[in-house]
Amino acid sequence: MPTRCRNFCCGIILWLILLVTTPGIPAGVSPSTDSLRALGAARGFWIGAGDIHISPLSADAQYRDVLAREFNILTPGVAMKFSEVQPDIDRFTFDTADAVVAFARAHDMRVRGHTLVWHEALPQWLTAGQFGPDRLGAILKDHILTEVGHFRGRVSAWDVVNEGLDGGGGLRDTIWLRALGPDYIDQAFRWARQADPDVPLFYNDFGAEGMGPKSDGLYRLVRGMLERGVPIRGVGLQMHVSLDDGPRPADIAANMRRLTALGLEIQITEMDVRIQDTPGPLAEKLAAQARYYHDILRACLAVPKCTALLTWGISDRDSWIPGFFGHADAPLLFDAAFAPKPAYQALARALAGR
Ligand code: G3I
Repeated sequence: MPTRCRNFCCGIILWLILLVTTPGIPAGVSPSTDSLRALGAARGFWIGAGDIHISPLSADAQYRDVLAREFNILTPGVAMKFSEVQPDIDRFTFDTADAVVAFARAHDMRVRGHTLVWHEALPQWLTAGQFGPDRLGAILKDHILTEVGHFRGRVSAWDVVNEGLDGGGGLRDTIWLRALGPDYIDQAFRWARQADPDVPLFYNDFGAEGMGPKSDGLYRLVRGMLERGVPIRGVGLQMHVSLDDGPRPADIAANMRRLTALGLEIQITEMDVRIQDTPGPLAEKLAAQARYYHDILRACLAVPKCTALLTWGISDRDSWIPGFFGHADAPLLFDAAFAPKPAYQALARALAGR
């Protein structure tokens, strides 16, 4: 049996095991009339959650139910990353990613592919391999052709290159830049297009949402890609911010306008709003967080080619932020018990046009 077919079948088998052995997955959960998903669908907008992991997906019925009820698009947290998909130089494994994709398809959800080229989540055999530029280029090409080919027709977009810029808007010093030179970004997009003639291809980054040196650098990068005929469809603005340092909605709107004026699509791909370090009573911080989520979504909805907003995680229990910043926080739409927070209501209002 061809590898691709075997992997796909394994993913389906894993999914079916999940389906029959873990009660609580209502086949084809129908979104309630006032869910974010229903409100988004009513205006043709993709509202989703990223950083979706197979362990809660297979073990937690509430995680699955909220994901399928409230969202129409998801992004796997790690399952499609280099280290997960190609654990050895001559071995690809897609079982976990196939199971996440199978869940999405079973619930009529889109999947954002994330991510093909990044300086993190790289396997040891690659980072310690002492490969020369030609060999690294061949490895990256094989990785992209194999992974994009495997998911052809099953993902709605690819984050082809993730976080390729530094804080000043120049190219980040990564293994890929050092080995392949500045052209690695163009080349990665061309290899992805070679593997799938249709899938929309995105450049994804953080800290370039408002106006400033990094977003100016991103604008120059994608404008140059378009001028060179590179098949880029859009830009993913990650939107990892805190109440204290989040870019002003007006600046985000201005940045979105200049990017869409190039003909590009925008998606807010990984939004979370940290509140822990902001002084004041919790209720006031949650209200301010809600206002910020609301204002950012309104800014996106006001730009015709801003087509999606995904948070990075579903509930505050699942967020990557406490582990990364070393203390608790409440950055998402649902609290640790999956109760909707003011930020959830705020997004619902924005989707309803209020
Ligand atoms: O699954 C293993 C587990 O078996 C093991 O015991 C444990 C301890 O080593 O690690 C687990 O894997 C971790 C994985 O998350 C699943 O939890 C990896 O070590 C850890 O590195 C990985 O972190 C992810 C990180 O990207 C790197 O891939 C985060 O969950 C994820 O939120 C984060 O997401 C990134 C986006 O891709 C790009 N934008 C920034 C965002 C936040 O850093």
